Amino acid sequence: MAEIPDRKNMTTADILAFCRAEVASAQSSAPEAEPAAEASADEEAWEVAEESAQAEAPAAPAKKPTSTKDILAAARASAAGGGDKPAEKASAKPPTAKKGAPAAKPTSTKDILAAARASAAGGGDAPAAAAKPAAAKKKQQAAAPAAAGSGEKPSVKEMLAAFREERSAPAVAEDVPEGEKRPPKMPVPPRKPKKKPLPEPVAQDRRAFLAALLVIPSAFAAAWVMLATTTAAWGLALLRFALPNVLVEPPSKFKIGPPGDYDFGTVSTKWKAERGIWVVHTDRYKGKNVIVALSTVCTHLGCTPNWLEGEQKFKCPCHGSGFYVDGINFEGPAPRPLERHGIAVAADGMLEVDKSIKFQEEMGQWEDAKSYVEV
Ligand code: FES
Repeated sequence: MAEIPDRKNMTTADILAFCRAEVASAQSSAPEAEPAAEASADEEAWEVAEESAQAEAPAAPAKKPTSTKDILAAARASAAGGGDKPAEKASAKPPTAKKGAPAAKPTSTKDILAAARASAAGGGDAPAAAAKPAAAKKKQQAAAPAAAGSGEKPSVKEMLAAFREERSAPAVAEDVPEGEKRPPKMPVPPRKPKKKPLPEPVAQDRRAFLAALLVIPSAFAAAWVMLATTTAAWGLALLRFALPNVLVEPPSKFKIGPPGDYDFGTVSTKWKAERGIWVVHTDRYKGKNVIVALSTVCTHLGCTPNWLEGEQKFKCPCHGSGFYVDGINFEGPAPRPLERHGIAVAADGMLEVDKSIKFQEEMGQWEDAKSYVEV
């Protein structure tokens, strides 16, 4: 086997040349007995070519054909046009081909890698190794950490790049053959946004319900009370309007007792508060011994004078009018004497006063016999 040069400094052309040289040397030295070595060399060469192509891409942007596809196309072209190379390439064809069948030209990366793996496992058990590409893959994966342990420790960046490459590998590796359509992707139904569960307003509803139970009946009760009160007030007002507006007063005629109860020369104030009269027994007016009923209303502005026993006169507290015992005014603003009410001796001998009748001295009415009782 030829010595593997520094991989990172290899170009695509170097890698291809190295692959061809490896294949040619393997066939010339051990054409039949070392298919495994050839296959492993091919596989390693292809891996080196892929890695170099990927590593070379950012370092040498001027060189365009650095992808795996380009490398494979170049390898196929060289294999088809190399003159003495088709025989060697045909020996590295995939093991899936039947024994004795004409060698087929590799058409895809998968086929080429499968052929390389089959060649690597080929010595005496080539079909079994070809039937198990997964084992070869595991071997390849196991070789990677071994190589890393040998001295080339991958950095984190490289490991992340390798992980991303591995993750994206199926999509890249799934090469759709020409003429076939890529299977349509299954439409992913849009996710429905989760509805936020509404909080259970049980406690709040219960409180609101209880408050309504307390407030609403109270409001209705207040309304009913107000309506009933208003209706009752209007009913009472209507009833009072229907009743007659009568001033209840004591009867105008009333008995004050026998004439002997009133001594001569005295003024009785017994009926002043209850009936509004003074009973006077006197002979001061024109010399007649009579009993009269004098009104207690001042003839000035209607006040109630007081009988002053010591001064023997009626004195009005409002403006100072003064009246003699027989009722004649003599001082103050009173313009006329006090008035008399009708008085008579009833059938039972009692004095009977009639307040509905008035007798005025200035009009000569005191001469009327109904205005006095002569004793
Ligand atoms: Fe009696 Fe004026 S009311 S004096």
